Amino acid sequence: MATRSEIAVAIDGPMGSGKSTVAREVARRLGFRYVDTGAMYRAVAVAALRRDVAMDDPDALAAVARALRLEVTADPDGGMRVAVDGEDVTGELRTVSVNRVVGKVAGAPGVRAVLGGIQRALGASGGVVMEGRDIGSVILPQAEVKIFLTASRDARARRRQAELAAAGEHVSLDDVRRIEDEDDRAATTRPVGPLRIAPDAEVIDSTERTVDEVVDRILASVARARGL
Ligand code: DC
Repeated sequence: MATRSEIAVAIDGPMGSGKSTVAREVARRLGFRYVDTGAMYRAVAVAALRRDVAMDDPDALAAVARALRLEVTADPDGGMRVAVDGEDVTGELRTVSVNRVVGKVAGAPGVRAVLGGIQRALGASGGVVMEGRDIGSVILPQAEVKIFLTASRDARARRRQAELAAAGEHVSLDDVRRIEDEDDRAATTRPVGPLRIAPDAEVIDSTERTVDEVVDRILASVARARGL
């Protein structure tokens, strides 16, 4: 595209598919900006919890999203930091209380509209690796590289359990599976921005592949898209 200096890479997939690890590494290897859209939904959840907003009121959740000033910046370790109204909330994004309500926040159409606008602006000039659920299908349909990452239910549950443990939360595999099934159900059935595979996405199953193998495969697709 003539107006873009670089391509955009969209990486979507369900919880525990390995998206975040892979997306960060792809961004690092390409020197691209890494955008974690899940973190943006989580930041709105933090703001809504602080304001004591009723989580079953999508309009109230949308009003929170519209009122806040969301800033995303690159973390020196390759991640992304999120500030809400000037306050860095990155450390609060993965707590149990946020996990519990973020599905409601992400299901509110008005919240998706606000965050979608920010995400489109971040992706507009390319040079970005953006991960989420609806990036290739809804947010950046023009992305030159679209990846849909999957993994078996068990592999996803084990990864998610390890992630939670790293954050100090020890949850049984059965409970992780339950959270995962609920997140899948909510993400695939919501009317706005559902998790679905864009028709032109490359589906990669990460169950039997190492992070490096998945990253290499995506980098090969990027090289093809750049005409290298
Ligand atoms: O990827 P994650 O677990 O940080 O995502 C947090 C929540 O936000 C999860 O419920 C899925 C949702 N989400 C979404 O609906 N759309 C996105 N583009 C990214 C995340």
